[in-house]
Amino acid sequence: MAGNEHIVILTGAGISAESGIDTFRSAGGLWEQHRVEDVATPEGFARDPDLVLGFYDRRREALANVEPNPAHAALARLEREFAGRLLLVTQNVDDLHERGGSERVLHMHGELKSALCSGCGVRSRWDAALSDRPPCPSCKAPSLRPDVVWFGEMPYRMEAIYKALAECDLFVSIGTSGAVYPAAGFVQEAAASGARTLELNLEPSEGSHLFAEQRHGPASTLVPQWVDEVLAG
Ligand code: NAD
Ligand code: APR
Repeated sequence: MAGNEHIVILTGAGISAESGIDTFRSAGGLWEQHRVEDVATPEGFARDPDLVLGFYDRRREALANVEPNPAHAALARLEREFAGRLLLVTQNVDDLHERGGSERVLHMHGELKSALCSGCGVRSRWDAALSDRPPCPSCKAPSLRPDVVWFGEMPYRMEAIYKALAECDLFVSIGTSGAVYPAAGFVQEAAASGARTLELNLEPSEGSHLFAEQRHGPASTLVPQWVDEVLAG
């Protein structure tokens, strides 16, 4: 890649699969274990807050038992070489990109390690459980919820993402099914602005046909190989 080219990378649950974190739509995935309507919507939270707080407490606790895999490490290596010319957008709410060494990660669906106060709207770094209704660090009210974007809510930082897509030279989608918008439409935004597009996924996604190039296989193999190619020149 030329020395002034910009890359936008989108990752989904598939990049964390080999670290042992369930994806959503693969066999046995999260949406086979729980109804989306019950644990990933504002209505579900209003209906049964204990169920939802417990669901995300268990996912937050599980982070202690998993490690980043070579795909996360490869993206951190790429970031170091492309300082300032790489934007990593993830739909994932885990912290494996950061633990794998990436420093500039845009979590468009929020993060398990953050809590949002339904009262004052302040977001706080959060490692503990929310089921016991701890007080908001800012307003002290017992109104903390997972800082995770649910269906029907607006993902974070969309303006910054669309700006980067309009300006990038290469868009790479890694480990996402292409089933959920607005992320599923990013490839079309990038292509419309003249960027090259590449899909790295275990198998063809719902949007594979929209990519100029697709490589299929496990992320822990594909991503390091691709990063080596980019860094070699
Ligand atoms: P959505 O964006 O997931 O849309 C629901 C379904 O409608 C999609 O699966 C897609 O098949 C279809 N769809 C939506 N927009 C479309 C479009 N423009 N063209 C064609 N098909 C389209 O549902 P939502 O309520 O808009 O979700 C809002 C945000 O919340 C999304 O970014 C979603 O990923 C996010 N979310 C996060 C979590 C979580 O646990 N982090 C869970 C659910 C949803
Ligand atoms: N390597 C690469 N890709 C993989 C691997 C792997 N080892 N394992 C699974 N995949 C791919 C699957 O082929 C699938 O295309 O990862 C993708 C996972 O898709 P989903 O389970 O739908 O996860 P994701 O695309 O991140 O979901 C998007 O939907 O429910 C909402 O907000 C939630 O962020 C999530 C969004």
